[in-house]
Order: sequence, then C-alpha cells, then structure tokens
Amino acid sequence: MKNQTTNIASNAYAPYSNSDEYCYVLGKSGTFYPGVRVENSSYPLTIPADQAAICSSLGNGDHPVAILDSSRSNQLSKFWIEKFNLKKLESLPEDAVIYDPIVKKVDDVNLYLQKLCESTVSDQSDFPVTALLKTTDGYIPGVNIEFKEWNLGLCAERVALSRALASGYSEFLGMHVYAPQSEYISPCGACRQVLFEFMPDQTLVLHHDDQSLSRHLVSHLLPNGFSSSSLKK
Ligand code: THU
Repeated sequence: MKNQTTNIASNAYAPYSNSDEYCYVLGKSGTFYPGVRVENSSYPLTIPADQAAICSSLGNGDHPVAILDSSRSNQLSKFWIEKFNLKKLESLPEDAVIYDPIVKKVDDVNLYLQKLCESTVSDQSDFPVTALLKTTDGYIPGVNIEFKEWNLGLCAERVALSRALASGYSEFLGMHVYAPQSEYISPCGACRQVLFEFMPDQTLVLHHDDQSLSRHLVSHLLPNGFSSSSLKK
C-alpha cells in the first residue's frame, strides 16, 4: 500500500466536488478493503467510495460484513448496509489488515487474466471479464462484479482502477482486458470514458478468445471525448 491508512481520504479523486470521501469495507476474512470516491468529468459516471470497496471485497472472494464510511449517510450507503446487513464501524482497529491489490510481478499476463476469471462475480450475465491495470508499482487486478441490481455492479476495468486509486497507486501505464465468452472483447462506453479521465495516452491491450491481441490508445477509443476541459467555462 502506497499511502498509509490515515491518508486514505487524500487518495480520493474528487477534483470536481472536493469531497474526499473514503470508506473501508470489512470482509468476513478479517481484511479491510479501502474505497475512495472516483469522480469523472461526466458526473454520473462517478464511482462512490462504498460501491468501490464493496466490489473490491467481492472481487477478492470475500463477503462484506461491516463498513466504515466517511460520507454522509445517503440512499446508496443505506442500500449497501441493508443488502449485506453491514455493521457500522466508527474507526479502524489499530491492527487492521488492509487489502493491498498490487501484484508486483506477472510473468504471463494472459495466463493471469485467465486465472482471474475465477474471481469474477458474473452470475447475472455469465460473462466474466478480467483486467490488469499496469502501474509504476506493479499490476492491479480487476474483475467484473454483478448484483441483482444491474446498475450497481462494476466492470472489471473500473474495479481495477478504483482499487488502484484507493490504495494510492495513481501512475498508470496501460491496461489489459480479457473476456473468454467474447469473440472480440472491447471495453464498454462507460469504461472508455472512465479510462479517458485517467490515462488518455496509455494503451489498452485486448486479449481475445483466439489468443490474438489488439492494442488501442485509450484516446482513440473515445474520439472527441468529453473531458474536464469540456467543463471549463
Ligand atoms: N463488462 C466488463 O467488465 N467490461 C467491459 O468492458 C464490458 C462489460 C461486464 C459488465 C457486466 O458484468 C458484464 O460484462 C455484461 O455486461
């Protein structure tokens, strides 16, 4: 973990609202999963801290049991609390074990992406997707997470990105994406927009079912994309 737990609020990406929200979700295993608010110039694509932490825990095969949330109680946090019957925590124990998503060394990216499919929560679509976000410190894994409430799940790309930011890894070098049920995997529009916010000049490597690869600059996947400069008055 790059930033100490006390600094987690500063890991939030909230340039539009300045509300540095963070959260920890305690998993049944005893591990705490950090989440931070990840805003987007297209405001509705913002990932709330609690959604990020819940998805991170589920993507690590854990089950949320408690939550420590910096944000004012809102409808969505009530939703997560009720959905998982979460206990509310007031502070982080001193000896808390904090999840660190970094994988320092990956020998075979394609094999890693395949193995990661076991961690997806894709029972709604039967369409597993995995991602590896390359950072200056190593790789951050992401898997797609689905709920009965479809709009509250997250794509593999966004799980990887929100995990990275929550743990203080913010220098992105590119991303790999894999979806075995797809003949030609290509990131959804929402993920293109979210990746465009953080790494427009980096490359997305798509790993197809037939073992072929295609490479795209993120900015090329979103021609004339909407960005923070579009918001300037
Ligand atoms: N999905 C991803 O994880 N990434 C993409 O780029 C495309 C879609 C997931 C979301 C959902 O869990 C499932 O695939 C079907 O939409």
